[in-house]
Amino acid sequence: MLEAGGVIGLPTETVYGLGADAMSSSAVRKIFAIKGRPADHPLIVHVADISTARALSRTWPTTAEDLASAFWPGPLTIIVERGPNVLDEVTGGRETVAIRIPRHAMALRLLQQFGRPVAAPSANRFGRVSPTTADHVRADLGSDVDVVLDGGPCDVGLESTIVDCSVDPPQILRPGSISSEQITEVVGRLESASGPSRAPGMLESHYAPDCTIVPIDVSDSIPSDVDRVLDGRSDPTRFAHDLYTLLRDCDRQSLRRVAVLLPDDVGVGRAVRDRVFKAAALRRH
Ligand code: TXA
Ligand code: MG
Repeated sequence: MLEAGGVIGLPTETVYGLGADAMSSSAVRKIFAIKGRPADHPLIVHVADISTARALSRTWPTTAEDLASAFWPGPLTIIVERGPNVLDEVTGGRETVAIRIPRHAMALRLLQQFGRPVAAPSANRFGRVSPTTADHVRADLGSDVDVVLDGGPCDVGLESTIVDCSVDPPQILRPGSISSEQITEVVGRLESASGPSRAPGMLESHYAPDCTIVPIDVSDSIPSDVDRVLDGRSDPTRFAHDLYTLLRDCDRQSLRRVAVLLPDDVGVGRAVRDRVFKAAALRRH
């Protein structure tokens, strides 16, 4: 399928991806067409081993090497300067490339057997909630995708942490289940993200369900007019795992207003808060 330039639904430990041969322009362009994603939004390249990651980069800094040894395979995406072999279609014309080794047996087997890097964004339509089961992918993309590999529900449930190692000190562009505390432990120093995000697509209302999400912090009271309350506070890791399925359930039940009890702003809680705030952001439609 991938050899023939096809596009497949692919399980990973974070969310399902929509994968294609990262070295084929026509295959990569199919991803953008199916997702309805703007062409300048870069894709993450999935690889089977660190040597392939190095081969895709112009320079492979110590910070990238240390993070890769600490967290790969796993829910961490590392951005480095791109090598000359990386397609413009993948980087959206940028001088950097985002790479990760997923921690999912089926994904790893596929990457090893295919023997080439696989470009894959989350397998949802642009701007919608990421899929965490094969059924979610089929519901979103239907017959537009040739094959959906069913690897069961995703372990983590939220997209990978993105760390930009093309700058010094490195910077977190998207929080995920690997926390800034864990990253700092490995690289020593982290630039705190300020100003506009440099990961395209991060500022817009993304991860958006149809219902209105009302984030509730510890000091806030729950409004009386909500149709459902989701508890993200008692067990943030579990909630991260369930969040996108819960949001899809709320939409299926046509709920209008859904309150989410926010976890504390530490560890995976930071990533949960980020996604809940994005889900709550004003929608374009
Ligand atoms: O967990 C994940 O990362 C999942 C699974 C499938 O691996 N993938 C995923 O891909 O979430 P996507 O395309 O939905 O999100 C990738 C993010 C986008 O916000 C994109 O802008 C950013 O990564 N990104 C990719 N390459 C970049 C680059 N060179 N510079 C800055 N941001 C980049
Ligand atoms: Mg996405």
